[in-house]
Amino acid sequence: MSEMRRKLVVGNWKMHGSLTENEALLGALKAGLASAHGFQGAVCVPFPYLAQAQALLTGSRISWGAQDVSERAKGAYTGEVCGAMLKDFGCHYVIVGHSERRTLHGEDNALVARKMRAAQAQGLLPIVCVGETLAQRSSGATEAVVCEQLDAVIAPAGVQSLAQAVVAYEPVWAIGTGKTATPDEAQSVHAVIRARIAVIDANVAAGLQILYGGSVKGSNAMALFKMPDIDGALVGGAALDATEFLAICQAAGASH
Ligand code: 13P
Repeated sequence: MSEMRRKLVVGNWKMHGSLTENEALLGALKAGLASAHGFQGAVCVPFPYLAQAQALLTGSRISWGAQDVSERAKGAYTGEVCGAMLKDFGCHYVIVGHSERRTLHGEDNALVARKMRAAQAQGLLPIVCVGETLAQRSSGATEAVVCEQLDAVIAPAGVQSLAQAVVAYEPVWAIGTGKTATPDEAQSVHAVIRARIAVIDANVAAGLQILYGGSVKGSNAMALFKMPDIDGALVGGAALDATEFLAICQAAGASH
């Protein structure tokens, strides 16, 4: 089943970068990946740097995207950025429902579902994030939490909507903490996610890329990528370091 899915490595820069730093980082990634193959690579940059990403990455094998999108198409929504604007800057992906947006900006499952649909309406591929907190894991609620988050995005638009999406499993306790889920821990949740979808549509489940996120780095990427239901990574801190990000990409290319 996993043969039909290509590995995908996405850097989530979060609120990091500057014109100067980005130029150096993207230059190093382009040079390092010029002859790489067997995986897809992308960076999700802050909104102000989309034009720079487009200028530097057009024609390279790295795609780019944003970290959030408005649920609305246009209008008097101060500070919001809609999907059509992201398309204008050549975005391929947009992250929706990252745990930092859920926790710090009060995004709930229903809003995440609307953002996913708004992205798809513009032909963007949403990377829908799900994941449990440490307290939820400790109380044995991991599967219930992740399935509830997943069901919330499936319910309004149907499971077929996941045919045009990527899912990222990011256990909140592993984000930015240096604590990675073990490959077995991550695999077991990825398998739950795929099985949940397979009950409704086996083809959508088989084709869906499910990324793991949470303290992924060059040294732990390969073991994660060897797992049958882990189709790549959503990378935070290590995506800001060209050597680390390239090592993760190389592991993705070598892992199938
Ligand atoms: P870290 O890789 O820094 O743990 O962040 C993971 C993440 O949140 C990616 O979206």
